[in-house]
Amino acid sequence: QKDINILAIETSCDETAAAVVRNGREVRSNIISSQIELHKLYGGVVPEIASRKHIEKINQVIEEALSVAKITLEEIDAIGVTYGPGLVGALLVGVAEAKAISFATKKPLIGVHHIEGHVSANYIEHKQLKPPFLCLIVSGGHTHLVLVKDYGEYEIIGKTRDDAAGEAFDKVARAIGLGYPGGPKIDKLSKEGRSDAISFPRAHIEGSPYDFSFSGLKSAVLNYINSMEMKNEEINKADLAASFQEAVIDVLVTRTIMAANDYGMKQVAIAGGVAANSALKKVFSTACKEKGLEFYYPSPILCTDNAAMIGAAAYYEYIRGKRSGYDLNAIPNLKI
Ligand code: KG4
Ligand code: ZN
Repeated sequence: QKDINILAIETSCDETAAAVVRNGREVRSNIISSQIELHKLYGGVVPEIASRKHIEKINQVIEEALSVAKITLEEIDAIGVTYGPGLVGALLVGVAEAKAISFATKKPLIGVHHIEGHVSANYIEHKQLKPPFLCLIVSGGHTHLVLVKDYGEYEIIGKTRDDAAGEAFDKVARAIGLGYPGGPKIDKLSKEGRSDAISFPRAHIEGSPYDFSFSGLKSAVLNYINSMEMKNEEINKADLAASFQEAVIDVLVTRTIMAANDYGMKQVAIAGGVAANSALKKVFSTACKEKGLEFYYPSPILCTDNAAMIGAAAYYEYIRGKRSGYDLNAIPNLKI
């Protein structure tokens, strides 16, 4: 059987990324040009700046991905690109680029859902992992509990009603002056704090056992900070970070394990930027062991946005026969 090499492009948020992936599981190159330093100055991603940086970087990132993989455009079998969800101006850069390459090389074009990409990061990391499994996607923009029934076949069984998990990390980090992105900073600081120091709420949504809500938790943290400031008392940031983090992890793990049990899933995977959180992995790992479930997570570089995961997803769409037309457009609120 002939190898299938996919050139993948990802520009949905603030990373300009390109990768070459062989047969959906083997990363030949994975180039990421991060804009974090740029957006840090504003405390979050500024959409117009993101688009402008993508257009500036995209060609050199692709050139590097091809060169590291020692492959030419002519040898590529297909081009995979994220077309949603994400920032529309950012997505358009990747989509236009992928269409141009597809047009020039006459290689097939495959539009990929960003969340499907995050899920597929697990295929790269764990060569033996096959559907069906339950996947929790936790990132700056998403908190989804997804049944992966087969390659390319998904059912969303739960999602956040308000803030995404990563968004909550970023907002809380900002409130205690840790800077952007907040997730990794809270992760690190929590190691020096006590997670039982402050009691924060765990939201349950009536009638939707697998849904999440983090806005109440975020408000509780902000209220706590305000009340401490009113009383002129010093805030122990490490305790606050650890207690907040534990509240997030508690609901993520409990609901995922419950869903795995209810749907008879034996394998549980996590994905997305927050899946890089060290405490989350630890708690998940223990809980899954207790319940006799297999637990999978990607290494940190495959958790946060990258194009290798898009290449993995594109491969499975490619062998399923999916092809996108030249009318492929960016869809900022694309449904899975
Ligand atoms: O997947 P990603 O790169 O972008 C989106 O698709 O949103 O996720 C970025 C998010 C940010 O909110 C960031 O704070 C969070 O992932 N994050 C973490 C950690 N590393 C990144 N959150 C908690 N702990 C971490 N170690
Ligand atoms: Zn993402």
